[in-house]
Amino acid sequence: LTASIVVDRRFTSGTVPRRLFGGFIEQAGRGVYHGLFEPEHPLADSHGFRRDVIELIRELGVTTVRYPGGNYVSGHRWEDGTGPVDLRPSRLDLAWHATEPNTFGLDEFITWSSEAGVEPMLALNLGTRGVLEALDMLEYCNGAGGTFQADRRRANGFEKPFDVRMWCLGNEPDGHWQLGHTDAAHYGLIARQTASAMRMFDPTLELVVAGSSGTEMATYGSWERTVLEASYDDVDFISAHQYYYERDGDLASYLASSTDFDAYIRSVIATIDHVRSVKRSSRIVNVSVDEWGVWYQPDHVDEVPAGLWPVGGHRLEDFYSTADAVVYGSMLITLLKHVDRVRSASIAQLVNVIAPIMTVDGGEAWKQTIFHPFAQASASIGDMVLQTLVTSTPMTADRFGEVPAVDAVATFDDDAGVLRIFVVNRSHEPAEFAADLSSFGQVFEGEMAVLASDEPRRKGAGGELDPRPRVSPLRPTHGQLAVTLAPVSWSTLTVQF
Ligand code: AHR
Repeated sequence: LTASIVVDRRFTSGTVPRRLFGGFIEQAGRGVYHGLFEPEHPLADSHGFRRDVIELIRELGVTTVRYPGGNYVSGHRWEDGTGPVDLRPSRLDLAWHATEPNTFGLDEFITWSSEAGVEPMLALNLGTRGVLEALDMLEYCNGAGGTFQADRRRANGFEKPFDVRMWCLGNEPDGHWQLGHTDAAHYGLIARQTASAMRMFDPTLELVVAGSSGTEMATYGSWERTVLEASYDDVDFISAHQYYYERDGDLASYLASSTDFDAYIRSVIATIDHVRSVKRSSRIVNVSVDEWGVWYQPDHVDEVPAGLWPVGGHRLEDFYSTADAVVYGSMLITLLKHVDRVRSASIAQLVNVIAPIMTVDGGEAWKQTIFHPFAQASASIGDMVLQTLVTSTPMTADRFGEVPAVDAVATFDDDAGVLRIFVVNRSHEPAEFAADLSSFGQVFEGEMAVLASDEPRRKGAGGELDPRPRVSPLRPTHGQLAVTLAPVSWSTLTVQF
């Protein structure tokens, strides 16, 4: 099996948007309660935030965090999570069959974001609420003061506006599971009305209209078109959500999932540009892939007994394998290849719920396998993505036909003189991989960090499986690099030039 890449420093495909390394925290399962917020934990700070989780969030290199949902947001009253905690109501959360005590809400999330060093990205409830409540929330967050909601914020201890720039106009309204589930024409109208009202407050906000909940939705494609026809002039992004999991023991197709992810992103971009041309608009709408990841959807274990409405029960707690990390890494490569139009993305989720970071109630926090490709890329990414010419021996994946066994993307940082190639080998055989770096002139030594396992399907709980990348030196000669990629692996090649 062979593969090669040619990178040329003159041919770039775009800057790396830091928001591409975003994440998502939902008020669901143990994402918040017993996840990032556990006042009784020995490592909790004065706000009740787990410091060990904040440290891992920083190590993961998350930039923007979307909150508070997800499905949860469609039944959410944002004001419940503001002001004195002892006056806050407990509510039923219908989306996750839970009790929401509101001891962690908007006020706490903003404080947590600043401690974790991330940019908050807020989602509005457009499932069971509308324009007025969205405007109230916006005024609470961003109003200077002297008006009701902004003064409530100040009275709650936040003198300065939160200045939240990115807002999601609802969540997955195409999904039958969503409170307020509706059709594209109806949602498009609500989204436009909300977006244009929000722009009357601040025309510079960045607004995300909801696209499909994934490629398997019957309305996928037409949903994007109809929603954008209604809202094009008032939004900056359309969202895309996508999760993958191994089906019917077909590991090869699972490992090839990013070919489907790539087709999805291309089709959303094509639909945006179709609507743009019909509208004769000069406005560019981009894509926010604000939920992506791996999720054992049919197999996940929900440990919430029927009839109970727990606070922070075990929901959607998947344990991941090396193969999952390779799929995760390949999705990241796909996102990087589309930086010209995908300007924001969020892994779903961050803590305990289909997440790279897990916690034990009252105990330790630990990393899943999927933590590593994301952390490595986020920490080491350059500022430019290069157009990447990759050729590879194909492999057969039943769901997608013949797909390249190897995929890769290159980024570089001119000031630091560092080139990085992120590469996945999706096949069960080693691959001989050659990189032509001659456009970089003299290239010096570098290193290769490899994430692989002899048992790619073995899942690890409690951190027992922690395939930290293994590092070895690289010696390019005359601008050429040749390495062997381990079967089912994710690697980062770093070269100094
Ligand atoms: O991330 C879990 C759920 O997946 C989110 O709540 C929802 O938006 C999506 O369906």
